[in-house]
Amino acid sequence: MKSNIGIEEKNRKAVVEHLKTLLANEFVLNLKTRNAHWNVI
Ligand SMILES: [Fe+2]
Repeated sequence: MKSNIGIEEKNRKAVVEHLKTLLANEFVLNLKTRNAHWNVI
């Protein structure tokens, strides 16, 4: 499926790369936060 959100293909791929890193980091932060929460005395 070809998406058209008003961003050129090349630029869209660059945005995707940033978003993938952001998603991964947010996921790790979420896991670590839950882990800390579960270990509160
Ligand atoms: Fe809780």
